[in-house]
Amino acid sequence: MRKILTPVVAALALGFGAASAQDYPSDTITIVVPFSAGGPTDTVTRLIAESMSKTLGQQIIVENVGGAGGTLGARRVAQAEPDGYTLLVHHIGMATSATLYRDLPYDPRTAFAPVGLITEVPMTLVARPDFPPANLGELIDYVKENADQVLYANAGIGAASQLCGMLFMQAIETQVTTVPYKGTGPAMTDLMGGQVDFMCDQTTNTTNPIEAGSVKAYAVFTEERLDALPDVPTAAEAGLDGIQIGIWHGLYAPAGTPPEVVAKLSDALKAALADENVVQRFAELGTAPVPPEAVTPEALQEKLLSEIDRWKPVIEAAGVYAE
Ligand code: MLT
Repeated sequence: MRKILTPVVAALALGFGAASAQDYPSDTITIVVPFSAGGPTDTVTRLIAESMSKTLGQQIIVENVGGAGGTLGARRVAQAEPDGYTLLVHHIGMATSATLYRDLPYDPRTAFAPVGLITEVPMTLVARPDFPPANLGELIDYVKENADQVLYANAGIGAASQLCGMLFMQAIETQVTTVPYKGTGPAMTDLMGGQVDFMCDQTTNTTNPIEAGSVKAYAVFTEERLDALPDVPTAAEAGLDGIQIGIWHGLYAPAGTPPEVVAKLSDALKAALADENVVQRFAELGTAPVPPEAVTPEALQEKLLSEIDRWKPVIEAAGVYAE
């Protein structure tokens, strides 16, 4: 129930709000990652958090709240105090969850104060190291012939690995058994161990295992090959046209967070994305920061709304919902 504030108390609260926004940050900041530690979203978040912490002169801790394709972590921040001390890094799943979940306890369009876009990470198709197919064409045949046996790993409904998997299965007109995890960090461990067969995942999680030969790489879902993975063909090159997907990530605060606080966070994020160390690490992992003009609340909100509209008909056509 909304508290009725007398004019004096209201003035005090406003004054206090303004003062605390001025002193922001005066305490440790928590960034919630809605997937497991060690996975792609965690990797991106820890890199920017380290740099933002220097700019803001305040400790930033990363808290992993995995489950339900990222919606549990998002709910945690949607319901947090709008004071700038609890933030969220989420990706394309923020947009797809608006359609995939028919009773989300928050509306992605209005429950957050967007801070800015971060990066758009390419997706790769990878498999366990001893998976029989030698290339994408053989993989498609193998999956079709063994559809009742092969296991596809993902990070739950609403995850990037689920969306990419859905597009791939639609393209090859085959459905297989999916094994859901709280993130592709633990899924990657099981893939390398051969407990599951294949997965579509972000280069921020696959580049190192591919380079180490711990997984087999079949394709990257981008127009051009990636500098970080020059030997991995594009899906189109390998014979599968029509799937191009980039996993855009954004930083969010709870709705109602003072605009001055959001502005400070946006500036610190912009500085982090210009930080040489961040730029180099992103490049080594097959991605890059978004341009500075995209590191704004307006650019993130615009991306979110346009992506909700883009994926709604695709998801409805697939008829895959989180119930
Ligand atoms: C993760 O960090 O685990 C991923 O972003 C999961 C996914 O969305 O596939």
